Amino acid sequence: MQKKSLQSLWSSRFIFILAATGSAVGLGNIWKFPYITGVNGGGAFVLVYLLCVLAIGIPILMAEILLGRRGRKDPINCLKYLAAESGKSPLWKLLGWMGVIAGFLILSYYSVIAGWAMAYVPYMASGMFSGQGSDFINQQFDSLVSSPTTLVAWHTIFMFMTMFVISKGVRRGLENAIKYLMPTLFILLLVLLFYSYNYGAFSQGLSFLFSPDFSKISSDGILSAMGHAFFTLSLGMGAIMVYGSYLPKDASITSSAIWIALFDTIVALVAGMVIFPIVFANGLEAAAGPGLIFKTIPVAFSQMSGGTFFGSLFFIVLVFAAWTSSISLIEPAVVWLMDKFSVTRFKASIILGFLVWSVGLLSAFSFNILSEVTFSQSIVTSAGEFVILKDASIFDVLDYLTSNIMLPLGGLLIALFVAWKMKKEYVHQEIAAHPIIFPAWQFLLKFVAPTAVLIVFMNALGILAFIMK
Ligand code: TRP
Repeated sequence: MQKKSLQSLWSSRFIFILAATGSAVGLGNIWKFPYITGVNGGGAFVLVYLLCVLAIGIPILMAEILLGRRGRKDPINCLKYLAAESGKSPLWKLLGWMGVIAGFLILSYYSVIAGWAMAYVPYMASGMFSGQGSDFINQQFDSLVSSPTTLVAWHTIFMFMTMFVISKGVRRGLENAIKYLMPTLFILLLVLLFYSYNYGAFSQGLSFLFSPDFSKISSDGILSAMGHAFFTLSLGMGAIMVYGSYLPKDASITSSAIWIALFDTIVALVAGMVIFPIVFANGLEAAAGPGLIFKTIPVAFSQMSGGTFFGSLFFIVLVFAAWTSSISLIEPAVVWLMDKFSVTRFKASIILGFLVWSVGLLSAFSFNILSEVTFSQSIVTSAGEFVILKDASIFDVLDYLTSNIMLPLGGLLIALFVAWKMKKEYVHQEIAAHPIIFPAWQFLLKFVAPTAVLIVFMNALGILAFIMK
């Protein structure tokens, strides 16, 4: 008896780490990290991002897992319940609300990008890229995104895939999918790394990524680096809270969080080490924007023997990685809807899937028929002008609003809640009182994470320059 229960507990912690890693590793690592690193000038951005993962991301990841395991509900009810448990205001549930909305909005454009990755599977499999140079590959990308119907078709398929898994319940099927896919993704990245090492401008790529030049990063770039730390770890909106309820009481939250963050970071860095050497060897532009991986990865495969096969496999695996992330974006909203209106999981999936799909159309069109619709916003203070958005498309605005504002704000409030509002004894019941790790975590959560988020916000909005003037 004893042995059996131990075993099933281990399996659950394993499932939790798998599920959370599946959520964390996705387009954020392979598509977004290289693209925003390129836009923000490289090394300094990467360094800020790594610091944010360490000092803000891991502590908040632990806090969010803790909330989920203790509350075992959707984020809105979870926070309401935990606030009541510690005698605090029911208004904390608004934090849950913001998270549910953030997940909804992120999925709307995430699905469009996942659609690009899907479109590349047949491109690769048909062998149309083999032997082609980067001009042809660039053109192909441009013609894909300029076709609204193609983008909507793939976006529709991806939303169907996401809501199909959601309607069956997230835990079923997830374990096997992730157990095999994560290693495959990783091995393919290593194959690509080998290519970049041999045929790319490898040392130039590495120095772009790892030698920080702080003159190249703006206050807005720092905000993006911090926002991305949240995005890539799936933090600040309740996804990890919902997954945290898979975790048995006696499993260590600390080591789970460290594993997830470590694996997620390694995947992103390897992706960067694959892409930038290809960029520099082929005279491509590091700051090419959201199309970056679609313009570089095919270049590598087009020149590699077996490139048709490996290239198709790469995009297939990328789609799967996006799939295990997308379900965590909408699961909190689904659980909430089921609970609130007592609808079945199936109905909740259809309703939310349709709504997310509709909002996603805006992002899909922002690359073509709505590309003229742009937003610019800056704040003028006596310390100068602070550009918040410049000619940003609908897609850019949604991304900015969610990654750079909602997720860090959600993370900040999670840190404040766990560090200052929750009763100490409850926190102690969840996280082992290790003599070094526990106080270090408390310190980071109480002081460092909130201050850092606030400073970065104020810096990007020009408030800091204004005060210090
Ligand atoms: N982390 C995922 C990625 O890197 C995306 C993601 C999944 C996410 N769930 C999330 C981002 C919750 C923010 C919040 O691709």
